[in-house]
Amino acid sequence: MPRRFPSQWLDELRAKSDIVDVVSAYVPLKKNGARYWGLCPFHGEKTASFSVNPELQLYYCFGCKAGGSVIQFVMDIEKLDFAEAVEHLADRAHMPLPQMQEDPNWQQKRDQRDRLLSANREAARIYHRQLFTPAGQKVLDYFKKRGLSDGVITKFGLGAAVGPWDAMTQELQKLGYTEDELRLCGLTVVREAEPATEDQPARPRRVCDMFRDRAMFPIIDGNGNVLGFGGRTLGDAKPKYLNTADTPVFNKRLGVYAANLLRKARHLDHVILVEGYMDVVSLTQFGVQGVCATLGTSLTEDQARYLKRIAPKVYLAYDGDSAGQHAILRGLDILGAAGVPARVLDFPDGLDPDEFIRRDGPEGFENLPVLTPEAYRMRRLAEEHDLSTQEGRTEYARKCAELIKPLEPVEQENYIQQLMVQTGFPRDVLLAQVGRSAAPQPAKPRPAFERQPRLAQKEDSAAVRAQEIVVSLLATGQLPADIAAAEDFSDPLLRSLYQALTDGASPASLVESQPTEADRERVSRLLLAPPSQDTNELIRMARDCLNTVRRERLQREIADLQREIPGLPPEKKEDAMRRFMALRAELRQRTGGA
Ligand code: UTP
Ligand code: MN
Repeated sequence: MPRRFPSQWLDELRAKSDIVDVVSAYVPLKKNGARYWGLCPFHGEKTASFSVNPELQLYYCFGCKAGGSVIQFVMDIEKLDFAEAVEHLADRAHMPLPQMQEDPNWQQKRDQRDRLLSANREAARIYHRQLFTPAGQKVLDYFKKRGLSDGVITKFGLGAAVGPWDAMTQELQKLGYTEDELRLCGLTVVREAEPATEDQPARPRRVCDMFRDRAMFPIIDGNGNVLGFGGRTLGDAKPKYLNTADTPVFNKRLGVYAANLLRKARHLDHVILVEGYMDVVSLTQFGVQGVCATLGTSLTEDQARYLKRIAPKVYLAYDGDSAGQHAILRGLDILGAAGVPARVLDFPDGLDPDEFIRRDGPEGFENLPVLTPEAYRMRRLAEEHDLSTQEGRTEYARKCAELIKPLEPVEQENYIQQLMVQTGFPRDVLLAQVGRSAAPQPAKPRPAFERQPRLAQKEDSAAVRAQEIVVSLLATGQLPADIAAAEDFSDPLLRSLYQALTDGASPASLVESQPTEADRERVSRLLLAPPSQDTNELIRMARDCLNTVRRERLQREIADLQREIPGLPPEKKEDAMRRFMALRAELRQRTGGA
């Protein structure tokens, strides 16, 4: 639910949140000329390439190209969404939020929230302490039996709900929490008195703990607040896991388990979403980073959007049983709808992640194939169809074609290859089924160059190397012609080779037509030495290289703009800023996308 802030109010907030002050709280800054410099908090580095411009109120890292406004900085460093970052800054600037001014009960609600959170925190402390008492020994033994180390028990603040049936309620009441408060945060259950009936005698009012005789998993949010608990039975009691119901401070559909650890993780490539609390604890103990779980419910869109802020991709690592497999399909739909790039880890033999990593170790986990949503869905479809019959193969091909239809041609290519092998249909039939024509694409008109392309410089060598590889790959004749475009090549020689190749020139003729010995040598090295024979492998390499090239080009344009903006006249500044933001969004998408 996006919250809107009046723009005047936001202006005031920005004015009270000087970017140099805000950033300084995280990064020691030194003034040099008109800017401040420090070590970038978003990537590891030893020399300062992170700069803050007080005039523009922008930051920018010349190393990792992160940059933006003060709100963007808080969003990135604290992993918050826009509204949360705004609230964070408002709190810092002692500015009441606009909605606070409107709601007379706001302060009261906030006080209640603080009380409930602090009761939960006390409860978590007490549960954890009890683990190391004689009464808690059986829970500690249970954790040990499940292979948990002391370190990981402390890291997750695991605990024991043991003792008399109202032990926790009593303890917390001693600390000053009221029965009402304890009921509201789901720690205490009250059963009202019942008068006698024909079948049973009168029952007195009874107050008891929600969690009894259970191993406790506190659910902690990104700010370190204890929101609720999951409690696992040590035996066969039902339910196996008892979770705090929704309370004024806890909504199962919003957060995830281990959000506190996710928030601290830096530079995650992906988040791993598992089904169980125990899976999170166990994978973390084995050194896997960025693991979390939903809270006893299936994945929601809110959670998907939250995860997207934590890392650019989400890996679904659900149980290998049929319920888990079903949940993966649903999870892929949710992630897709929320625009979150997803991958699947498919565990063999019906194992869950905890069982798998204990059996095959962290190496086994590292080596699990990472499936794209399409690859995973095709795998499932293959299981559902009898590929030994003509009918099964036809239906399978039809469904797979439907599945890969929305993909770009280069992405489709991998699956087309696989379908040819699995179904025996020829390539042109499969292409027709996905709605593409097998005829070679006509050559595209050459784009005009608005910018003078740069010559290859040393600083560009990685990008140029990537461009060279693409040219070599194109020379094999096995790549689709439209995989690259002329503007992908900043090096003039490489660009002319690309154009000649897509116009149908033979590699050999290109070597001969080079004017100098050095060029002939370079071109022959590039064109006559295909790096691999397998078409899929070639396409994959080309896509990797093009991604590098395109990313670098964006980064360079962004850096150029960043340099130019301060010197621009005011009427041009706004356009330049808009372009700057657009390029950054595109870059982020490129880095985030698969
Ligand atoms: P599982 O039944 O797969 O448990 O439930 P698990 O993770 O393998 O647990 P262990 O290894 O037997 O201890 C997965 C998740 O579903 C929710 C919990 O969040 C649990 O971690 N769940 C399960 C419940 O909320 N209630 C239940 O009764 C069972
Ligand atoms: Mn399990």
